[in-house]
Amino acid sequence: MTADSFPLERTSRPLPDDERSAILADPGFGKHFTDHMATAQWTPDAGWHARGVGPLEPFTLHPSAAVLHYAQEIFEGLKAYRHADGSVWLFRPEANARRFARSARRLTLPELPEEDFLDSVAALVRADAAWVPAGGGEQSLYLRPFMIATEAFLGVRPAHEVRYCVIASPAATYFSSGAGGVTLWISTTYTRAAPGGTGEAKCGGNYATSLAAQLEAQAHGCDQVLYVDSAEHRWLEESGTMNIAVLTSAGELVTPPLGTILEGVTRDSVLALAADHGLTAVQRPISVDELAAGCADGTITEVFAIGTAAVITPITRFLGEGVDITVGDATAGKTTLALRKHVLDIQYGRAADPHGWLRRVV
Ligand code: COI
Repeated sequence: MTADSFPLERTSRPLPDDERSAILADPGFGKHFTDHMATAQWTPDAGWHARGVGPLEPFTLHPSAAVLHYAQEIFEGLKAYRHADGSVWLFRPEANARRFARSARRLTLPELPEEDFLDSVAALVRADAAWVPAGGGEQSLYLRPFMIATEAFLGVRPAHEVRYCVIASPAATYFSSGAGGVTLWISTTYTRAAPGGTGEAKCGGNYATSLAAQLEAQAHGCDQVLYVDSAEHRWLEESGTMNIAVLTSAGELVTPPLGTILEGVTRDSVLALAADHGLTAVQRPISVDELAAGCADGTITEVFAIGTAAVITPITRFLGEGVDITVGDATAGKTTLALRKHVLDIQYGRAADPHGWLRRVV
């Protein structure tokens, strides 16, 4: 990955070192942002142009910009990890680039070439390398590439002016409970996606509509929602920000098939690592009834959520209307924690990377 195609104009007002250090000591998630951002613009005539990395600053948008009215927007999430020797690495950024292109096609946004995605992310991480937290714990620099329709026009058609941007935010674990385990609310009020909809795309609209479900989950004392399918309200799909998988006593790692769920990069990585843990990876529908019966009779031994932000997070309980399912003994499962450690060890350079997933940027 070269950074030359996104030339750097360094900010003249970086955050002072002591303030940045204070943030890195306790970054939380998504609260603080680095000194720079990468951007590019697109029009049908010029194609992608005006690529660069410059100071992080607010956008100026016309109030009629299409994104503000019709939500023509997509985004990605990936992280930069500092290894013990100080080097900084990305994890499978090509997979994010390809998903970004798929999301763009679904939202009728222009596809950003894969090399632009990779170069922009690498250039931003290099510019803000001082913001990548030390790698001893689970901190990282969370990268948020996104694309918005900026054209000032109220007609409903694909916009003719588009902006791409990458911002970066130092991040600790997504859930304050870390690897301790979370409870999910199985919503029958709200669904996330239907065949033919935008369920597979990573677009802001999917997350906007998840907020009511998230509040419903919290009102029932749960950490997040778990969606079921829209037709039968029976089949597990994914949670608000994560894919889901169950482990069975027969040694299977089962996760719902693609179609209406997000094609998670961490989900795909866990499927590839399953065999190292003596597990057979299976993609097939799982019903709420199977989940309840399996957790009751011990044929489902562990359940966990999978995502870039959440890594692998044990799920210890499910609640829903007339549903109360405890997974195992309601503590984080052994194999879940082993898988979690395996993924993190690869990301932080503490384990072998036989799949060639890491890309060095600093
Ligand atoms: C990610 O894991 O990168 C996500 O997209 C979750 C995010 C919405 C917080």
